[in-house]
Amino acid sequence: MDVSSKDYVSLAERLLNARSVVAMTGAGVSNESGVPTFRGLDGLWNKYRPEELATPGAFRRNPELVLEWYNWRRDLIKAVKPNPGHYALAELETLLEDFTLITQNVDNLHYDAGSRNIIEVHGNISKEKCFMCDQFVQEEDIIRKKGDLPRHNCPAKGLIRPGVVWFGEQLPPGAIEQSSAVSEKADVFLSIGTSSKVYPAAGFVMDSKTNGGYCVEINPVPTDQAGIMDLILQGPSGEILPKIVEAVKAL
Ligand code: OAD
Repeated sequence: MDVSSKDYVSLAERLLNARSVVAMTGAGVSNESGVPTFRGLDGLWNKYRPEELATPGAFRRNPELVLEWYNWRRDLIKAVKPNPGHYALAELETLLEDFTLITQNVDNLHYDAGSRNIIEVHGNISKEKCFMCDQFVQEEDIIRKKGDLPRHNCPAKGLIRPGVVWFGEQLPPGAIEQSSAVSEKADVFLSIGTSSKVYPAAGFVMDSKTNGGYCVEINPVPTDQAGIMDLILQGPSGEILPKIVEAVKAL
């Protein structure tokens, strides 16, 4: 579907009139920065098995492999920059009355672009925590010994793991409650660059929808949730989001 400028103007009006707006992002938003998505042809889960890399059991069985994979992703992410989609979301936060960004991404690019009101529902790859006591750790809390993996200086001496949420794990404390609360009161909910396949994140749009929110999907490929959307803007978020910002600024 091609997007007419009429769609942008009416969405901009809705955004400006909304008491509260939520944008929820997924891996697609960082794709144009060079960060691979998880699903789809070039997706990470097409090349790697999540059961071997992104579960507590995988870490227990082979921590070296899991840490190597996360270090590779961390290095990849360190080398990239936010794209126009990230900057547009940061600008929307300054233009709208009450704007919350829920992100499934762990890459920090929303912060780098200037967004501040962010709920990171899947953690952050630049952080580290203890596999045993689950505390986030600083460098001074980490024991590094030759021939051993990094461990936490806690009674259990747990291995250090990335500060992300793995399959089978709970979201960070309060993340579901906060995300549901902002989604329920959102007059406009933007679902951007996510396949909407991973719950509970994929359920937040319904919190908005069932409370009368106007739901918009921004994605080059319609998702399984396209049917519940009030508007679909089909295309890359790095192109669509700046046009939304332009339309808001023009009003
Ligand atoms: P997915 O990889 O499942 O989906 C990425 C979505 O981005 C797809 O719908 C693509 O069509 C879309 N996309 C690709 N390029 C885009 C672009 N330039 N602009 C906009 N959209 C684009 O990623 P997520 O939905 O984020 O979880 O995946 C959810 C979770 O599954 C991740 O947080 C991760 C993963 O396993 C954990 O690690 C716990």
